[in-house]
Amino acid sequence: MGHSDQDRVVIFDTTLRDGEQSPGATMSHAEKLEIAGLLDEMGVDIIEAGFPIASDGDFEAVRAIAAQAQTAVICGLARANLNDIDRCWEAVKNARRPRIHTFIGTSPLHRAIPNLNQDEMADRIHETVTHARNLCENVQWSPMDATRTEDDYLCRVVEIAIKAGATTINIPDTVGYTAPRESADLIRMLLEKVPGADEIIFATHCHNDLGMATANSLAAVEAGARQIECTINGLGERAGNTALEEVVMALKVRNDIMPYQTGIDTTKIMNISRRVATVSGFPVQFNKAIVGKNAFAHESGIHQDGMLKNAETFEIMRPEDVGLTETNLVMGKHSGRAALRSKLNDLGFELGDNQLKDVFVRFKALADQKKEVYDEDLIALMQDGTDAE
Ligand code: KIV
Ligand code: ZN
Repeated sequence: MGHSDQDRVVIFDTTLRDGEQSPGATMSHAEKLEIAGLLDEMGVDIIEAGFPIASDGDFEAVRAIAAQAQTAVICGLARANLNDIDRCWEAVKNARRPRIHTFIGTSPLHRAIPNLNQDEMADRIHETVTHARNLCENVQWSPMDATRTEDDYLCRVVEIAIKAGATTINIPDTVGYTAPRESADLIRMLLEKVPGADEIIFATHCHNDLGMATANSLAAVEAGARQIECTINGLGERAGNTALEEVVMALKVRNDIMPYQTGIDTTKIMNISRRVATVSGFPVQFNKAIVGKNAFAHESGIHQDGMLKNAETFEIMRPEDVGLTETNLVMGKHSGRAALRSKLNDLGFELGDNQLKDVFVRFKALADQKKEVYDEDLIALMQDGTDAE
């Protein structure tokens, strides 16, 4: 039996916007283009490429990503004012499939910042979403801090945004406060109470302050959300955003109880995870689900014995499904150039012959002093090389 559109969950990646907002995670123009290319290739449906009003650099990056994208929708973020929205449109309008994403904080705490009362904010939402929709037929609207917004007011403003032409309504858990049952209840309530809710897509956008972002996103999907907003490696402000690799692999591995499909080629996960770690300067913790160094590693005798007899004894996913080869090359002073190139490729570095020659000399010098050269040593070696340039 085929899958219906109802089963399809849209993956919206915001590594280049919310992810890059992590203090210290700034990426260069070329790095952003590279990551956007990898996201497009792996089947991400929507790439939030940046916040065009934030800086000229952000604007240019979003514009270049829009021009380069082959398949993905390219989205830019804009606050709820006409200037921001115009600038965002300028940046995304040349994409094959552009989207404007505009937002405003709707909770009592957030309403106090621009000092708008409920009616004034409702008018602002109507005006800005209408403006965005006049520019672009694909408009996403977010009530920031939705999970701490009063239910009645949330229903009211979501209805206004839908009537003004929003085609996706995103429900952010901006401060990672919600719990899975609440995440589901909120989507269910909006679907039941808001007129026109069945005409649009609800998105879930979770932060990981209490370590519940993945669970909250999946609970929202089970309640009817059909877009998950996430980042590679869970990169994002504070404790980060929902990790793309976690929700995608959870939907794949537990499709028996969560029968939803994504368009992601999961074999590309490991490479992009490593590239994002490298370009953002945020290493992945060893025991991180799916992409951590130890996620498919086994050390104790009992585990190794079980694995040798049947990999399913201690693994619920195949390493190949996330793009790992089974071979673990141990690097030491006896390793050759080909092994070094292959290992560095696995770590996300593509080297020309001259670069390889130079790294190989430094690698040999290091290997002479150590029993084993670990992945972190190789990454440091590569970074030293880049710093010296
Ligand atoms: O977390 C958040 O509320 C956001 C919005 C801008 C969607 O990132
Ligand atoms: Zn966010």
